[in-house]
Amino acid sequence: MAYSAKIGPSILSSDLSCLGSECVRMMECGADYLHLDVMDGHFVPNLTFGHPMVECLRKSVGQDPFFDMHMMVSRPEQWVKPMAAAGANQYTFHIESTTNPGNLIKEIKESGMKVGLAIKPGTTVEELAPWANQIDMALVMTVEPGFGGQKFMEDMMPKVSWLRSQFPSLDIEVDGGVGPDSIHKCAEAGANMIVSGSAVIGSDDPRSVISLLRTVVAEAIQKRSLDR
Ligand code: DX5
Ligand code: ZN
Repeated sequence: MAYSAKIGPSILSSDLSCLGSECVRMMECGADYLHLDVMDGHFVPNLTFGHPMVECLRKSVGQDPFFDMHMMVSRPEQWVKPMAAAGANQYTFHIESTTNPGNLIKEIKESGMKVGLAIKPGTTVEELAPWANQIDMALVMTVEPGFGGQKFMEDMMPKVSWLRSQFPSLDIEVDGGVGPDSIHKCAEAGANMIVSGSAVIGSDDPRSVISLLRTVVAEAIQKRSLDR
């Protein structure tokens, strides 16, 4: 089995005036990667930051942390090269935001980043499926993208299960409302990359939350491999 349990805190819910130290703190608490939410106020009704911030963050945290860029933007083609130059490792775009996913996947690979492909709650998994063999990760949103701290949508889990059954070694990420209360559903369905914002950042003990999330997912992966 090629995939493993990885926990990526979403720093959207952290003190954004201290982003560098918050990222370092998350890595020190055992995060496997950092999930960075880019919003343009158009694709989603909220604004965050762009590649100049990512460039500064990269300088501040060093080369090691893996940056998964969640691009909630209307023109994802526009930011591929700037994000690669700024030090992004993975470029996760929304299938709803482009008419030519194939070309975008190619451009992201050519710029040296991994490719993530995301679907909003209203988008079927069948729309993602034709691209699954060309991407590194599929992101199944478990809230409407735009804001942290929303309620987990359990009814997205059949998408995760279906993807896991069709693509046994694909990295599958869930994002939105994921924490100790919802992680078992995600793990059972077959997600292995877990984004968690408020549940991790808002905790008094982020290290324990990260460790718990990883343990639940790792156990589900092991169970699945024994069942096969
Ligand atoms: C929502 C973002 C998420 C968000 C997750 O649009 O994509 O990454 O920050 O935060 P929680 O875990 O609080 O839902
Ligand atoms: Zn996100």
